[in-house]
Amino acid sequence: MSSAILSSFQSYAPAKTDLLSVAWGLVALLTIYITHWLYRWRNPKTKGVLPPGSMGLPFIGETIQLIMPSASIDLPPFIKSRLKRYGPIFRTNVAGRPVIISADSEFNYYILRHDERLVESWSLDTFAKLFDQNDQSWRKYVRNLALNHFGVEALKERLIPRMEDTIRETLAAWSSQESMEVKSAAITLTIDFAGRQLFSGDLEKAPLKLSDMYNVLLQGLMSFPLNIPGTAHHKCLKIHREVRLMMGDVLKKRRMSPPSSSHGTDRQEDLLDHLIRDLNKESFLNEDFIVQQLFGLLYVSSDSISITLALAFKLLAEHPSVLEELTAEHEEILKNRENLDSPLTWNEYKSMTFTLQVINEVLRLASFAPGLFRRALQDIPINGYTIPKGWVIVIATAALHLNSNQFDDPLEFNPRRWKDIESSVVSKSFMPFGLGLKQCPGAEYSRVFLAIFLHVLVTKYRWALVKGGKIVRAPIIRFPHGFHYKISERIN
Ligand code: HEM
Repeated sequence: MSSAILSSFQSYAPAKTDLLSVAWGLVALLTIYITHWLYRWRNPKTKGVLPPGSMGLPFIGETIQLIMPSASIDLPPFIKSRLKRYGPIFRTNVAGRPVIISADSEFNYYILRHDERLVESWSLDTFAKLFDQNDQSWRKYVRNLALNHFGVEALKERLIPRMEDTIRETLAAWSSQESMEVKSAAITLTIDFAGRQLFSGDLEKAPLKLSDMYNVLLQGLMSFPLNIPGTAHHKCLKIHREVRLMMGDVLKKRRMSPPSSSHGTDRQEDLLDHLIRDLNKESFLNEDFIVQQLFGLLYVSSDSISITLALAFKLLAEHPSVLEELTAEHEEILKNRENLDSPLTWNEYKSMTFTLQVINEVLRLASFAPGLFRRALQDIPINGYTIPKGWVIVIATAALHLNSNQFDDPLEFNPRRWKDIESSVVSKSFMPFGLGLKQCPGAEYSRVFLAIFLHVLVTKYRWALVKGGKIVRAPIIRFPHGFHYKISERIN
């Protein structure tokens, strides 16, 4: 018995030693692999030298630092501290993607002038899902479509009087309320107005109000892309599906019953008619594409204008001397009219010099997006470094707009600075609407909308903060408690 035990023990002992050495071997291999992987994470393989920076933690990179909110209109500390430490071009990693952030105005200008040759558009995940940015072949078509329906000719021919009427009605309604949260109220205004240009109010009788849906959607669009029930991102994707279904219905109904029979023959062609007319002309045009464009155009025409409007409320209320000069400009326009009640004209809009400087200044301070997003199509050399092919490049427009080398006292709201600013600063360091091939086709529409809004606002109303007013960058500008104002008719 005891010899049997001994022999089994003897045969067991070497097996245990073998297993242990195998285990140690595996641990050693794993350690080498992880160390190598960590080294590669921190020092990605490239043909040249990477711009300085840090790739942060495995998998998440520096995402947490990037989205950490900062309670100021200034650049978020993430960007500010890295610009100080590494200079105007640095590398980082966001949500597992290697990224270059550039606040170098010459480099930014250069790559935007070589868009689609050196770089291509790139979108955050949420945007990519919403706009199918991978396929760029339709971009030119959409650009022309937007210019056709929102460009200078459309503004001169029909949009200016429509905008003025809508804004007058809206401000009258706002002034009858105890207080208004101007950011979300401005989303409703801009969605309702643009919606009418897109599909002539076909959705006005829909069970769910489109502007309410966009209000929810816009809150979730910039959230962390975690698609599980309860998250803002999940809600955003759900509303996105519902909005698209509603738009798909409108499209189907319009195709079945074209405008001449359903709306009468005097109705002007809207953007939806235009898309339907082109259905058989362009190979990429189909029902899905049309819904996608209606959705995307409503989004771009509302979010940025409503942020700018809300910020203008706050900045003008806090700077009475600017408000005074602005009011004087608009009273002068009224004084020069033969008929005080005649509608605002294109020439009057063009004469609003100070108003346009106020709008520039609000856009500069707002700098709501952290930048323009591109992806390198090839290795790009810059100042002895190499940006590897495939890396995301963020053209940090906010860092240009808030740079003290270009704009004295950059956090100060000072529209008068635009009176004698150098043209080179404007072309290379001020690009709220982008630059080059993909420059925003809605830029003039936005300026006109904001100018008319300010015209009606300062000539007829005054406003006072009721609550909120806090600004946060995370890194996109947010108004966490809203901007609640009491708007009242002017007494004098
Ligand atoms: C304050 C208002 C607005 C701001 C600050 C703004 C900003 C921008 C910027 C920075 C870009 C360029 C993006 C890039 O280069 O990657 C852009 C593109 C675009 N914007 Fe706007 N936008 C505004 C309003 C509008 C409006 C009202 C419309 C529609 C009527 C519009 C339609 C578009 C379209 C279609 C593009 C894509 C252009 C292309 O890829 O060729 N935007 N916008």
